[in-house]
Amino acid sequence: MSDARDETAAAAAFAYEQAGEYLAGLDERPVLPQGVDEAVARFGGPFPDEGSGAVAALEELLTGLDAATGSSGPRFFHFVTGGATPAALGADWLATALDQNAFSWVGSPLGTRLETVALDWLKELFALPADWGGALTTGATAANFMGLAAARQWWGERHGRDIGSEGMAGLPPVPVLSSGFIHASALKALAMAGVGRSSVRTFSRDAAGRIDLPALAAALRELGGAPAIIVGNAGDVNVGEFDPLAELADLAEEHGAWLHVDGAFGLFARVSPRVEALAEGVDRAHSVIADGHKWLNVPYDCGFAFVRDPGLLAKVFSLAAAYLPEDEPEPTYGYLTPESSQRARSIAVWAALRAWGREGYREMVERHLDLAQRLAQRVDEAPDLERLADAPLNIVCFRYRPPDVPEEELDGLNARLGEDVLADGRVYVGTTSFAGKTAFRPAIVNWRTQESDVDLLVDVLRELGSKLLARTK
Ligand SMILES: Cc1ncc(COP(=O)(O)O)c(C=O)c1O
Repeated sequence: MSDARDETAAAAAFAYEQAGEYLAGLDERPVLPQGVDEAVARFGGPFPDEGSGAVAALEELLTGLDAATGSSGPRFFHFVTGGATPAALGADWLATALDQNAFSWVGSPLGTRLETVALDWLKELFALPADWGGALTTGATAANFMGLAAARQWWGERHGRDIGSEGMAGLPPVPVLSSGFIHASALKALAMAGVGRSSVRTFSRDAAGRIDLPALAAALRELGGAPAIIVGNAGDVNVGEFDPLAELADLAEEHGAWLHVDGAFGLFARVSPRVEALAEGVDRAHSVIADGHKWLNVPYDCGFAFVRDPGLLAKVFSLAAAYLPEDEPEPTYGYLTPESSQRARSIAVWAALRAWGREGYREMVERHLDLAQRLAQRVDEAPDLERLADAPLNIVCFRYRPPDVPEEELDGLNARLGEDVLADGRVYVGTTSFAGKTAFRPAIVNWRTQESDVDLLVDVLRELGSKLLARTK
């Protein structure tokens, strides 16, 4: 260990140089990981008795570089996956070098201050009320957990119970109402919160999951004023559609319910005047969440939750011990989040926002909106593709539908094509089930993505589709 300090500079320089090369080739690299079997075999084995030293360990690590998925590049349209802007990337490296624990002010005034500023700027970016509280966390699942845990605390108080302190024993089930757009992570959050996945009642008027507002309103009326939680969805994963948030806010007001909005990526509609109306009313919710590692394009892992009454977060997530701080000059973020010790995610978030400003983010979101429209148009023009829905935001939902293939064979064909696309690896895109049909749902989220990437997606799908068809004939 005697030369460990010297190793730090060498390891950092080596990592910087290698990462630079990787990033320079990112636009051209296949998305598909290469040499996975070899990498898997190479990285196994018993725990070594003797260490190799830092640079040697990094060199060995880099022999598996190709086994990394090209998810930080421009042609990863699977899930909803952003990249890292230059400022976010640089700042995140610095965050590692500084290794701040953003749990508290005393532990990191820098991390805490930057978090407060970043949250304030995010509220400005999304036109959310300045007096809301909130915190950064690991992602939208954890942020949903925060918002729904605050809702659960509120619900308990309506029943005369401080759930954070006394738990839920003996209380009735928590009524949770949503549309068919509700994301699996909100259900996971409800499971973690002890509310339970099956507490959710969804009200949909069609197979796509679009909300049946009158039915949801009737269910609230039936509750007769008993407190309930409404989960509104800003951006569903299949199409990028929104629940009517203003109407949900009206209902929440009328029935004294809590409105939680999952805007993991859809909250970014607020950034562009072209689509801001989609999220109208989100500022009337009680809790609103979004991801940082999606459309903000900061590195994993990062999400954020805003809550109108942050005191509720503290009632769930605070901790107290003689050695822990009290009454710090800024919020003690470890008392507002599921994590206690935590990475100073604020460093990358602050730098990303500072580097691009409101205009930079508007420009990126609008470029992605344009790319989605271009993709939709390319789909519409292709005789063997069928668009299944409008593309209101950054997702285009369509399927491969060559002439003469009967309807009953299309789901199987698209599922197989989905596998072929991932095996080919020039682009990555996932399949889903939309209104009972197997479909593709590319999401455009990465700041690097350009027209040529979107065009390649269409070309690859059609090329592999016709090959698949020829094989199966
Ligand atoms: C609408 C929505 N909510 C929540 C999540 C969960 O996000 P994360 O994986 O960052 O926790 C996602 C992820 O795609 C999403 O699209």
